[in-house]
Amino acid sequence: MMTHFRIGAAMALALVATAGYAQTDPNAVAQIPTTAFKPVATATSPDKSLVVTIAFDNDGRPTYAVARKGKAILNPGKLGVMFTDAPKIERNLELIGKSTDSSDSSWTQPFGEWKTIRDRHNELTLRFREKAGLKREMDVVFRIFDDGIGFRYNFPDQPNLHQANISDELTEFAFAQNGTAWWKPAYQWNREEYLYNKTSLDAVSTAQTVMTVKLADGTHAALHEAALVDYAAMNLARSEGNTLKASLTPGAGAPKVTRMAPFASPWRTVILSDDAPGLYMSHLELNLNEPNKLGDVSWIKPAKFVGVWWNMIKGDWSWATGPIHGATTANVKKYIDFAAANRIPGVLVEGWNVGWDGDWFGNGNAMQFDQPTPDFDAAELYRYARAKGVHLVGHNETGGSASHYDSQLDRAFSYARDHGIPVVKTGYVTDAGQIERVDADGTKKREWHEGQWMVNHYLRVVQTAAKYKVGIDSHEPVKDTGLRRTYPNWLAREGGRGMEYNSWPGKNPPNHEANMFFTQWLGGPMDFTPGVLSLEGQGGSAILSTEAKQLALYVVIYSPVQMAADTPENYAKHMNAFQFIRDVPVDWSETRVLNGEVGEYVTVARKDRAGDDWYLGSITNEEPRTLNVALDFLDAGRSYTAEVYRDGAGADYRTSARHSIAIEKRVVKKGDTLSLALAPGGGQAIRFAATGQARRR
Ligand code: NOJ
Ligand code: CA
Repeated sequence: MMTHFRIGAAMALALVATAGYAQTDPNAVAQIPTTAFKPVATATSPDKSLVVTIAFDNDGRPTYAVARKGKAILNPGKLGVMFTDAPKIERNLELIGKSTDSSDSSWTQPFGEWKTIRDRHNELTLRFREKAGLKREMDVVFRIFDDGIGFRYNFPDQPNLHQANISDELTEFAFAQNGTAWWKPAYQWNREEYLYNKTSLDAVSTAQTVMTVKLADGTHAALHEAALVDYAAMNLARSEGNTLKASLTPGAGAPKVTRMAPFASPWRTVILSDDAPGLYMSHLELNLNEPNKLGDVSWIKPAKFVGVWWNMIKGDWSWATGPIHGATTANVKKYIDFAAANRIPGVLVEGWNVGWDGDWFGNGNAMQFDQPTPDFDAAELYRYARAKGVHLVGHNETGGSASHYDSQLDRAFSYARDHGIPVVKTGYVTDAGQIERVDADGTKKREWHEGQWMVNHYLRVVQTAAKYKVGIDSHEPVKDTGLRRTYPNWLAREGGRGMEYNSWPGKNPPNHEANMFFTQWLGGPMDFTPGVLSLEGQGGSAILSTEAKQLALYVVIYSPVQMAADTPENYAKHMNAFQFIRDVPVDWSETRVLNGEVGEYVTVARKDRAGDDWYLGSITNEEPRTLNVALDFLDAGRSYTAEVYRDGAGADYRTSARHSIAIEKRVVKKGDTLSLALAPGGGQAIRFAATGQARRR
């Protein structure tokens, strides 16, 4: 053990000095029944609004509690880990060391929602040791920000804990109040692709993260994790009342996680805010990830794309070769022409490679990621696209045969590099728990998408792609925990119900995006593939959205790879509205969430990273509403032409008037107020074109 880490008996149990809220209102600590809990340390956020109190219960179990602005948010929750081959570390612990640190720094996102990210936090590291028996040691590291906390376990290497075979984690989140929770179920066959449930907190069963809670007193909390590396993803199982317990995703073997010490767990995170918009404005997730490990990433170019895709999702074209094959040279050329004509840099092509014929679902071992089908002339399309200033977006669907993909990674990404393909969309379509892993000795195993082995697989793909200067857009991925900071070529993920569900029966309801914004999208960018202006899925079935809402999604959703998902033929019928999709950028210097309630509505303003224009997107659920927004975000001293795309007369997602859209211009400046009238299932998109700036797109 490091000597500087050991603390003297006299100060061992002294509380870290607290000020501000904690001092003026001692409720925070008073919440902890002192008969049962013995506080041993506290730490506060830099602004003193958050207080974390670590206390032992009567059994020597360390707990942590969180108070905010003098009110209890989390009651004492347990800490600890269980093993498959050794007793758990939880009871009969003593505190043998403590250290503190703090930081206030800023860093730059190479691309993203914000250019500059501030990281201001206090850190408290506690070392616990078992008083008897194996005398194992475990650190718990807390980082306390003004808008939430992260904490992780750190296991030093030690004689009685060299290889850790973890069966589960004992971490609890013991909410001090009941509230409303937005969550989707864990461990179900359709992976991450479920609608969000809205229930009372004390009615949650087993949930994936991000899970968002509005507590009885109005405080909003989002539970998630950061920096999920070489570990199993965390879900949340409600044990009793308002208490949730970490539940790690299984793997094919008995331990859910196997690691050699020393190692650290991912950060367990709780973002806290007075309101829903504050959750999105937090940078805690990114700040808890390590800085960029790829060095120069100027080769990564965020970009919009169109694709040989929606016709397949609708069933009009096929991935397989044959009479309705989508990825033919002629079809792809038409998409390249369309992209070039509209200054959209990318064209996704699915079904271009050998392996899709027959029943591809469950037969991922047939996929060849460097072999085009005979009717797809790769060399000619590379030449044609390049001549028109367009690149292809690659597609590697593994069908869940992850080891088969592993064996081809270098071939797949050197093929991409050699064909001018800067980003590859990957896919892992198979039911939960059915990923095929084949070990070196030929043994076949079945893995979960979010188990430790797959967590490592996804990152291996991203790291290998980086060697070839290729970006990755993972579908059926592991959830996003902010690793795009460390590996910026991990551009986006799906991991939820995207636009494809609007083609099929059981469409996304109008509240879906307002749910996603305040849950999954707190974790990072999603390749949702918005922009189906035809508002029609399979067989002409109606999408439950207005046309203006489709445009608004380009500002509401952050993704450095953003698709214009509809077909060129359909866009040709909606060219006035399509102008907004042509104009909107994918890279921002500033983001503000102007208003919002989980599952109801949200309004987002973002500033173009490459210019002076601002953009606004506002969406609602099935309720019509009028939102007044102050244009305080605009830059002072200049005027803007607001190009407004709003729900038109009678617009309503339930009728053919879903297409009613009004497009108009007005001159505005900072300090003006706009009234946004949103139709049922509607939205509004605005480009604030800075006067005097040439239209770039
Ligand atoms: C599911 C993906 O989400 C979708 O975008 C893709 O087209 C299909 N899998 C086929 O790979
Ligand atoms: Ca999917």
